[in-house]
Amino acid sequence: MTVHKRAVGAMLRLRRLAAYFLTGALSGAVPGAYAATAFDAVAPIFDQRCVMCHNGDAAPLGLRLDSLENVLKGSQRGAVVKAGDPDASELVRRIRGQSQPRMPLTGPPYLSADEIALIENWVAGGLTAGRGAASPSQPARPKAGEAVTYQHVAPILLQRCAKCHAANGLKGAPPEGYRLDTWEETVARADRLRVVPGNPAASELVRRIRGQALPRMPFDGPPYLAEEDIRLIEQWIRQGARDAQGNPAPAPAGASLRLHGTLNNTWELDGLPLSVDAATRIDKRPGPGDYVEVRGTVQRDGAVRANRIRRR
Ligand code: HEC
Ligand code: HEC
Repeated sequence: MTVHKRAVGAMLRLRRLAAYFLTGALSGAVPGAYAATAFDAVAPIFDQRCVMCHNGDAAPLGLRLDSLENVLKGSQRGAVVKAGDPDASELVRRIRGQSQPRMPLTGPPYLSADEIALIENWVAGGLTAGRGAASPSQPARPKAGEAVTYQHVAPILLQRCAKCHAANGLKGAPPEGYRLDTWEETVARADRLRVVPGNPAASELVRRIRGQALPRMPFDGPPYLAEEDIRLIEQWIRQGARDAQGNPAPAPAGASLRLHGTLNNTWELDGLPLSVDAATRIDKRPGPGDYVEVRGTVQRDGAVRANRIRRR
């Protein structure tokens, strides 16, 4: 999460500064008075580290952290924040590790000392709303002509995928060893590539969110991703799966793939042409219309060579 975290850190510092000026320093009404941290300043931490799990009908213990109203509503067990009393607030105890399991459940890393202090200040200062915090971070859409980078797709992956695909997610170890909580892990080659820069159709990640490969992702769907979000992810991959700074991911030549999908009668997997030759091992006599697993390799020219095709 390093890259993303840095961006969040910068955003946080800005918000904090803004909250400080808005709540006291410039008002002149209370010179020198303690400027309480407002919810505006803590919401980005919840958005980035907590809302991926604490939202919607399946929120753990019914606790949603996606708006001030929902944070104040608390969980099935009752309030999680007590105005003026951080030590008696379950939310603060969880992020400090005084109550177990420590939050965020995906940690380590847990929140930084600065982030914890900010939340403590917000509770100590009486849970003020500030300007009415922004709703959970919406994916920032690229402007016309601007390249799609990890910054644009990270909010989708963090909110819809990272609750499982993290070091210590809802399923324990990341499913298939695949983490989706940092750019490095999302595009990692490891044993195989799931994101093939330049080629969305050869990317198992796209096949899973489209439902061409099963089980469809997110695993806890429906709801699945909005078509608009799927297209944004495809565009990001087509343009090289760039990191937050705009640097493309390493070229995929030579990487192994494992894809799932439906074959047609010209060795295409849902529109992805496969290069098949005498050395391709073909198991269980797959035919047109069959759902298959393909083990392959990305060629120098970007084509996918099928090493093995097996009917499932
Ligand atoms: C990977 C999913 C996940 C993430 C991310 C996550 N939580 Fe949780 N949270 C859970 C689960 C599961 C529980 C229930 C655990 C238990 O049995 O106490 C829980 C419980 C809690 C509770 C206890 C509520 C109560 O009434 O006892 C609080 C407070 C909480 N989380 C706050 C947070 C905060 C704050 C963050 C972000 C800094 C966060 N969580 C991130 C999954 C998550
Ligand atoms: C509730 C947990 C959960 C969520 C949320 C989730 N996944 Fe998964 N994911 C799984 C499980 C479990 C598997 C293994 C499924 C199988 O193939 O049997 C998996 C497998 C995958 C695979 C296949 C990996 C491989 O090596 O072939 C990809 C790609 C994937 N998920 C992407 C995503 C994306 C993208 C999202 C968010 C849009 C997402 N997942 C959300 C649980 C989850």
